[in-house]
Amino acid sequence: MYTFGLAGFPVGHSLSPWIHGQLMKQTGVEGDYQLFEIKPEDFDEQISEMKNRDLDGFNVTVPYKEKIIPHLDGVDGSAAQLGAVNTVKRTSEGWIGYNTDGTGFLHSLQARFPDLFEQEINVLLLGSGGAARGIFDALMKQAEVQVDVANRTLSRAESMIAETGGAGIARAVSFDEAEQAAGEYDLIIQTTTVGMSPNEDTSILSLQNLKEGTVVSDIVYRPVMTTFLKEAEQKGARLHFGHEMLLQQAVYAFQIWTDLEPEARPLLEKFERKLK
Ligand code: ATR
Repeated sequence: MYTFGLAGFPVGHSLSPWIHGQLMKQTGVEGDYQLFEIKPEDFDEQISEMKNRDLDGFNVTVPYKEKIIPHLDGVDGSAAQLGAVNTVKRTSEGWIGYNTDGTGFLHSLQARFPDLFEQEINVLLLGSGGAARGIFDALMKQAEVQVDVANRTLSRAESMIAETGGAGIARAVSFDEAEQAAGEYDLIIQTTTVGMSPNEDTSILSLQNLKEGTVVSDIVYRPVMTTFLKEAEQKGARLHFGHEMLLQQAVYAFQIWTDLEPEARPLLEKFERKLK
């Protein structure tokens, strides 16, 4: 019998209990996934209390992915490099932090488009926040890529590139430049909160110049079909959805906790229906 949890604020609408419930069913293990909604002023105290509970592991979400680190006994390599943890496991060496966001993104993309990374590709990454960093790091490590990064605050794109060792692979570009060059990208990844419910459902970038067959990904999963993805579809793009990443990062967290290897694919359709 496992006990897992999620620490964040707010967590009331989290889909993680449902996802992990499905993963337990698929692998035939018994367990429980609890929500810990922690107010920022109570963070230190509540995390100490969580660590004293009978938990096997927990996920960490907004706004605590960085703040959790000083509370851990160790942090896995790429999570340490990123300075962000989304999965914590109780081990004989104490509480260890991992980050499954970037690999979750990349492997869900590869599962849908197995040929995408067969040769070097041009990528446009929109955004430079925590999610963008994880994805950028995973992309650089596992694929031959040239990356243009566009962000509202251009200096943040520049520092993301410098801090994650991306100089020579990536450059910061303006949205105007990215729109002009849209036809030259093989993969476009939208990582900002633009278009996320309940924010206004708008598109961050015009895809007027997009070429047919480009893979366009939006990590926003509510709604499943964002305005950005609708525009991409109209231009003949191949789509990759935010809930595919969400599911895969949860699969990797579950794998870290249990050493079992559930599959995301059988859950995709059911998950999509749940989001609608
Ligand atoms: P996360 O960890 O989820 O990535 P974040 O670190 O707050 O969240 O980053 C949010 C991203 O969305 C950033 O790239 C942000 O741009 P800035 O760096 O300029 O803030 C982007 N973003 C949020 N609201 C935006 C808006 N209205 N227009 C354009 N970009 C926006």
